[in-house]
Amino acid sequence: MAAADLPAVHDLERQLFPVDAWPLQMFVDELAQAETRSYLVAEAGGAIVGYAGLMCIEPIADVQTIAVVPELEGRGIGSALLAELIRESRRRHAADVLLEVRADNPRAQQLYRRFGFEQIHTRPRYYRDGVDALIMRLQLHTTDSAGPGTTTDDTQPTETGRE
Ligand SMILES: CC(C)(COP(=O)(O)OP(=O)(O)OC[C@H]1O[C@@H](n2cnc3c(N)ncnc32)[C@H](O)[C@@H]1OP(=O)(O)O)[C@@H](O)C(=O)NCCC(=O)NCCS
Repeated sequence: MAAADLPAVHDLERQLFPVDAWPLQMFVDELAQAETRSYLVAEAGGAIVGYAGLMCIEPIADVQTIAVVPELEGRGIGSALLAELIRESRRRHAADVLLEVRADNPRAQQLYRRFGFEQIHTRPRYYRDGVDALIMRLQLHTTDSAGPGTTTDDTQPTETGRE
């Protein structure tokens, strides 16, 4: 994500997060902190169709945001963005990746579970409209010790929760 992407990103933000959209300045501030932040956009046909952001201050990485245009949901764009954030977390030597997700957003929760995230806490009435936040965690170090002949690449979705 570059500064030139911000108008389009912010339009999407207001569309996708009507209750608690970030102000434009928040994205500006995030991009200005490259040493601890990593923001991506997904493009299709020259247009921005998704975006995601990570904060990493060792040993914790936090998924700050992730979003895909409604017309292109279910095609793997969200998974691709999340996989890249997890790869970036590893590059930055994070032990855990954390995120918050609305309790009434089962689609996003399902995406995170497929990648191995587990719910570790609930923050009651965290969101402005009174909805709880679920805190989810992916532990990265648990796969670092995989033995010979096994893969350590857990950036692909697991089978968990697919049924
Ligand atoms: C949550 C969100 C980012 C997911 O993005 P997405 O691009 O739809 O995600 P994916 O396509 O990778 O995966 C979603 C589903 O599509 C399925 N899918 C993935 N690739 C697919 C493909 N090629 N064809 C059909 N379905 C596919 C996945 O199996 C997944 O199903 P699931 O419900 O079992 O997890 C998106 O719905 C969104 O932006 N929502 C609004 C904003 C939001 O809630 N953000 C999260 C805040 S915490």
